[in-house]
Amino acid sequence: VRGFTASSYGDAFADVYDEWYAEVSDVTATVDLVRSITPPGGSVLELGVGTGRLALPMAAAGLIVVGVDASSKMLDRLAQRDPGRTVVGVLGDMVDQLPDGHFDTVLCAYNTLFNLTSIERQQACFVEVAERLTPSGRFVVEAVAPSPVDHAAASGQPTSSVSVRSMAADRVVLGIDRHDPSTQLVEGQFVEITEAGGVRLRPWQIRYSTVAELDSMAGRAGLMLVERFGDVDRRPFDADSPRHVSVWALSDARVTAS
Ligand SMILES: C[S@@+](CC[C@H](N)C(=O)[O-])C[C@H]1O[C@@H](n2cnc3c(N)ncnc32)[C@H](O)[C@@H]1O
Repeated sequence: VRGFTASSYGDAFADVYDEWYAEVSDVTATVDLVRSITPPGGSVLELGVGTGRLALPMAAAGLIVVGVDASSKMLDRLAQRDPGRTVVGVLGDMVDQLPDGHFDTVLCAYNTLFNLTSIERQQACFVEVAERLTPSGRFVVEAVAPSPVDHAAASGQPTSSVSVRSMAADRVVLGIDRHDPSTQLVEGQFVEITEAGGVRLRPWQIRYSTVAELDSMAGRAGLMLVERFGDVDRRPFDADSPRHVSVWALSDARVTAS
């Protein structure tokens, strides 16, 4: 999407995010998973914290939560939902502007890593995260696991589709997306057309990576895979799993060197 920047997604979706995406993944199971790998009262850095869908329940569960987001509109929503400031919101890019310090767990949920739309930016994110993990810290990524079969079936040609997200007598929201398997880029727009208000565009784009690509990035950043689940309920991951939750730790060599 031409003209798209790190803040574009959040700024375009902040007003509808809680309504549209409240149930995209199991919040309780995600918080349980994070608690199970984080010491009681430990620290969590969430990359792309958004409106706090996950961060607020993590803080309520007794964890110290810092959330980074490139969109001031998303962080404004988080602040509105969190009058007691239980989550520390930091405006910044999740590669170039991560806060200093070390965290027991770094979480990047719901495809947010793929908002970094090149393999180089994703690699740089792994490097920055590795710098901020405590010696026994964990990096947790929850994302779609692209199927090699689907990927091959696309035979290299870009495909596009239009679907109806919602429809009423005076309003329709269309989802338009385009997938280029040669670059692994998927980009789209939600187009909201209302009789009263005209047209509202909400653009998004991701660069999906396979689990093998992610493990390679992790390895180059000095991280090693410790667990991979098929979802936040910790079901086993296999080649047919549509999603994955991957947990990396600093490699032994890296811990010894630090
Ligand atoms: C899909 S939302 C996920 C929000 C939240 N983690 C959740 O699970 O509901 C992705 C978030 O990442 C933020 N984001 C996208 N690119 C970013 C970047 N380069 N640096 C920091 N935040 C970014 C967006 O503004 C948005 O709030």
